[in-house]
Amino acid sequence: MDYIKVCTKDELPNNSQKVVNLDTKKIALFHYNEKISAIANACLHKAGPLGLGVVRAKYDGMYVTCPWHGWEYNIETGGAPPGYLDQQALYEVKIEGEFILISKEPIVNAHKAHHDNPLLEDLMKLKYQTSENSLNVLGISTTNMSANLPRFSTSEDALEKSLTYAQEKYGAAIKMVKLRELEFRNCEGYYSQHSHACTWPCSITQMNPHDGMTEVYESMILWADIVIVATPIRWGNASALYYKMAERLNCVQNQITISNRILVKNKLASFIITGGQDNIQQVAGQMMYFFTDLGFTFPPFSFLGWSRGWTAEDMDKNVMQFKKSQYIKRTTMEIVDNCVELLKQIKNVNSANINAPLPKPSDSLSSEIENKDMNL
Ligand code: FES
Repeated sequence: MDYIKVCTKDELPNNSQKVVNLDTKKIALFHYNEKISAIANACLHKAGPLGLGVVRAKYDGMYVTCPWHGWEYNIETGGAPPGYLDQQALYEVKIEGEFILISKEPIVNAHKAHHDNPLLEDLMKLKYQTSENSLNVLGISTTNMSANLPRFSTSEDALEKSLTYAQEKYGAAIKMVKLRELEFRNCEGYYSQHSHACTWPCSITQMNPHDGMTEVYESMILWADIVIVATPIRWGNASALYYKMAERLNCVQNQITISNRILVKNKLASFIITGGQDNIQQVAGQMMYFFTDLGFTFPPFSFLGWSRGWTAEDMDKNVMQFKKSQYIKRTTMEIVDNCVELLKQIKNVNSANINAPLPKPSDSLSSEIENKDMNL
């Protein structure tokens, strides 16, 4: 077996670790409990850098936790924790004088066990449920309230009106998703480590397919032709639940960045924004910016707003006035009419010809600089 010098012993004192090059490969080298061991640096999941992970005594030995999404490997055997079948490539280590050498080839080959979850198959394979003739209208209500104390919501009521109208006037298939009824985790910011750490489907969803965002991804990306998002205004912004969902949609937009893959095709979005006082235009601008970056198209006049002005602190009259409003009655129908009208046209657009003029990692001013610890 051939061995290659990778560093000196001084460069790897006890209780330390580092990433070294072995020809074109990167190896995570560990020195714990006076033992030196070497496994491939690229995590079997999405190639996270194992050499940067935290090492701790766990289960039946010393384990490194991948810094991207938490897969674990025994640093001396390369094996996954008890009960898992994954095996990371393991290299032999030799000491010659002051030098640490690693076998040129692994002494145990890598093996990735099957991890696909049937619950996520449609998302993984992007099995779109739209067709040339489909008219699937999705409403997403982002208002929050306690299930024990239900109350009237202006944004949700307007959304229900729009969906009912779409069904009655156009025979649309309709679906309402209420974010407050879905339990889902906040985005945990894996993108901040590396653009490839933000995966499709979302890595949180992959860890837990019962996470409520699975329903949002399936309904919004695979099922809907038209998405109408309704939000109340909270301190001049969309609701906290809206932002919680938006952060978890980074994985949709990130597919464009890392794989040049636009997941949202031939779909329209419109918005319902209601508040006691003001700031409708700012909220609409925020939402429209985000949804265009996902790949949605907007009809002209793509939102309806309801507010009663800066001095309208008499909130007890808000619902009363809303229920009487002819403007609400009319515009909940008009935003649907505009969407349906435009949908007929965008159904004929060949989305393969649509570009996403977004920055790619290669556009970065630091793209030429190598990060020696990374595998990608
Ligand atoms: S856990 Fe290592 S890349 Fe996902």
